[in-house]
Amino acid sequence: MTRVLSVASECAPLVKTGGLADVVGALPAALAPLGVEMRTLLPGYPAVTAKAKGGKVVVRFDDLFGGKATVKAVTAAGLELLVLDAPHLFDRPGSIYLNDEGLDWSDNPERFAALSYAAAFIAINGADGWKPDVVHGHDWQAGFVPEYLHGLSDGESDPPFVFTIHNIAFHGTTSGDRLETLKLDGWRFTANHYEFWGQICAIKAGLTGAAKINTVSQTYAEELMTPQFGMGMEGVLQARKTDLTGIVNGIDLDVWNPETDSEIARYKTAKGKVKAKKALRAEFGLPDSDGPLCVLVSRLTSQKGIDLLIDALPNLLSRGGQLALLGSGDTDLEVALLELASKHDGVGVKIGYDEALSHRIIAGGDAILVPSRFEPCGLTQLYGLRYGTVPVVALTGGLADTVINANPAAMAMDAATGVQFSPVTADAFGNALLRLCDLFEEPNAWAKLQRNAMKQPVGWETSAAAYSDLYAQVLKG
Ligand code: ADP
Ligand code: GLC
Repeated sequence: MTRVLSVASECAPLVKTGGLADVVGALPAALAPLGVEMRTLLPGYPAVTAKAKGGKVVVRFDDLFGGKATVKAVTAAGLELLVLDAPHLFDRPGSIYLNDEGLDWSDNPERFAALSYAAAFIAINGADGWKPDVVHGHDWQAGFVPEYLHGLSDGESDPPFVFTIHNIAFHGTTSGDRLETLKLDGWRFTANHYEFWGQICAIKAGLTGAAKINTVSQTYAEELMTPQFGMGMEGVLQARKTDLTGIVNGIDLDVWNPETDSEIARYKTAKGKVKAKKALRAEFGLPDSDGPLCVLVSRLTSQKGIDLLIDALPNLLSRGGQLALLGSGDTDLEVALLELASKHDGVGVKIGYDEALSHRIIAGGDAILVPSRFEPCGLTQLYGLRYGTVPVVALTGGLADTVINANPAAMAMDAATGVQFSPVTADAFGNALLRLCDLFEEPNAWAKLQRNAMKQPVGWETSAAAYSDLYAQVLKG
């Protein structure tokens, strides 16, 4: 039995802004059959404390970065949670990361330093007799764990730290004069540890302090070491190349199951999609059409290539294709999409975050679009595969690793599961949409694609084994 403390700022179904939450929420159950006992340390945001009621106080802090705090052990949604109850840091309304003006909470460095500090404290002292063998941190919010382990331990007994990068775009950087407030060891404020261009950098602390680093696909692991994708961290990652691997994400096959999904009419074969598609058109106010109904569910940011979609869309519409989109994010993208919907009958846009609707969309679409400029893994193309909703994806990161392009060889071998395009430009995307329409117009080819997509394994089995193996490696030292 290996005990692992997972440390993250999000965990589905309690609190989620993106795929990080899904992965953190899925890992414990995926790893349990492999003899891994995982507990998840989470900030006590209102959304978390509302769903994870009660529990037992297992750690007390008289002053954790400016106020009293406790850690409560509680079981919720089938997860063994350790909730960091620190009202001065986490009990506030609105977004978990942003204030009312859409800017980062000014104390984000302290908020997530507190999370990392609590993780290190538990790793060394245990919580109610439970002491992890390995600490597994996710993204910059857990980046300082190795620094605090270093500060709190006698140097002999601290458990190894595994660091997973879900997105290198966010660094958790703050001014160098916050060393003391963040309880960091001043002499380690160097390029070998957490100093980055004169600033304190949480993700760099994680990258330099981890025994092993992984990211959420093999292609992204390679990309991360290049200036185009490394976002300034490429040098740090190159230096850690032998400790960096890619483990592709899976999805929860019970939550995303076309045969039991309560949001859609039950369908067992791709044929059943007709019903779900009709309902989706009605929900988005789209007329009947012979072309493919394309869907997209996403945060609306530049990462996701939404501007490319806006430019490429005329190609789809010219062939009778349609778009149903659900998303929220950057205001200019929201406005541009709503404008597009008001101009074209074949475009339906809903701005917001709606989990149930996302199921109806994935189920009802013919194709799911993921034109990301970079994508560490991506989950919606995996949902698409499982629901026979053919992915059209940029050739990058996890999108490159999880979709087999419908080129002539892959079609002849009956292996293709989607359409990929490269370079990631509006032109190339537009061409991919035309290819999609060609395929859609050939019933045999289309049926093959859907069949292959639905057969592709997208669960956690293989990747859970890879994580378990990673823990075994760091324990061997
Ligand atoms: P990222 O983590 O970069 O946002 P992923 O594809 O890994 O990208 O994960 C996004 C997750 O968030 C998926 O589960 C997706 O269905 C969900 N999601 C994104 N936007 C919305 C939305 N507006 N409504 C419902 N679910 C959404
Ligand atoms: C990040 C990435 C996304 C990935 C998710 C879960 O948010 O942007 O590609 O799927 O984390 O690992």
